[in-house]
Amino acid sequence: MLQFESPAISFKNVTKTFGNHTILNNLSFDIPKGKITTILGFSGAGKSTMMKHILGLLTPSVGTVEVLGNNLAEMTSLQLREFRKNYGMLFQYAALFDSFTAHGNVAFPLVEFTKMSKEQIDERVKELLLSVGLKEESHFKLPSELSGGMRKRVGLARALALSPQIMLYDEPTTGLDPITTKMVNELIVETSVNHKEIGLTSIIISHDIKATLEISDFIAFLDRGNIVEYLPAKEFKNSSNPLVQEFVNL
Ligand SMILES: Nc1ncnc2c1ncn2[C@@H]1O[C@H](COP(=O)(O)OP(=O)(O)OP(=O)(O)O)[C@@H](O)[C@H]1O
Ligand SMILES: [Mg+2]
Repeated sequence: MLQFESPAISFKNVTKTFGNHTILNNLSFDIPKGKITTILGFSGAGKSTMMKHILGLLTPSVGTVEVLGNNLAEMTSLQLREFRKNYGMLFQYAALFDSFTAHGNVAFPLVEFTKMSKEQIDERVKELLLSVGLKEESHFKLPSELSGGMRKRVGLARALALSPQIMLYDEPTTGLDPITTKMVNELIVETSVNHKEIGLTSIIISHDIKATLEISDFIAFLDRGNIVEYLPAKEFKNSSNPLVQEFVNL
């Protein structure tokens, strides 16, 4: 199993049970800082459950989850709320507020969570939208007036607004056409590169094996609540694990 010095996220002997169903099964797993790590696995393997533990939305039945050196289970709900500013999330359908413009969507977390002035927010929003490749002419359009790819850019700009240290991408390309898929994958890599100096950690949950092999640094394969393979992306296709081979050759 790959190990890293001061990882961004560390699962230590984590078991999660719902009733008498074991969903995570004595899982020990580190995610490195500053890299792109993808978690693959068949439906029902426990990927979303893992993600919810990273966010502190679920707590382990046994074991600990440490994020940036903090045991989430020891935090009060107020501390956890504050701590979540370290995360940016891009969801499958970007999940924008329909009645806010692109600008309004990106401004939202800044208004909600910072004491920045209106001028400072306007400046920062413009900079964020430009940085994800959205031209100024689109900044005051509503989501319904934007293409799927542009909406993804807005979602990404909003996720980056509070300068997170950890970006979580949940099925970022599921349901997108091939061109938009390519754009989103490029955007994930660009975002990682553009935030190298802060050591932005990117975590992707995906079914898109081809893109994953190209854009990730590391790939973990989750099966029935356990990581059964964890390799640098370049080596992943050569895994001798039969489940991984089945997945890769689907
Ligand atoms: N709150 C819950 N209560 C009971 N069972 C749950 C709960 N959340 C998840 N499960 C079960 O845990 C298992 C893993 O679910 P999870 O959503 O983590 O899978 P996944 O790998 O994300 O799958 P998919 O690729 O379909 O999104 C499933 O069998 C699911 O029914
Ligand atoms: Mg899921």
